[in-house]
Amino acid sequence: MYTERVMDHFNNPRNMGEVEDYNAEGTVGNAKCGDIMRMTMRIEDGVIEDVKFKTFGCGAAVATSSIATEMVKGKTVEEALKLTNSAVVEALEGLPPQKIHCSVLAEEAVRAAIENWRERAGEE
Ligand code: FES
Repeated sequence: MYTERVMDHFNNPRNMGEVEDYNAEGTVGNAKCGDIMRMTMRIEDGVIEDVKFKTFGCGAAVATSSIATEMVKGKTVEEALKLTNSAVVEALEGLPPQKIHCSVLAEEAVRAAIENWRERAGEE
């Protein structure tokens, strides 16, 4: 049912936890199931230097968060904002149709964190 890639990221999630001294934070919830994802980032000069996630959710949400952090780490915020849930699903070599909604959390968490960073920058 799940690809090897999904199982790998589920069993060995990358970048799990919270970035020390983060300056961007996004928490999003999935309206369909109530699961929650929190992403923290350290952004320097518009580049995502570090990113970590915590997911209170299903295995597909853990796998998508994990691969999404890998996909945006080292990228500029503009590049990271282009991350779509379909790109995340593609990187995982597919998800079962009933689990596609789980991948939306990762895209939304990245956006929410960057939005938060922009708000903070505006405040300074
Ligand atoms: Fe909730 Fe997957 S079932 S994120």
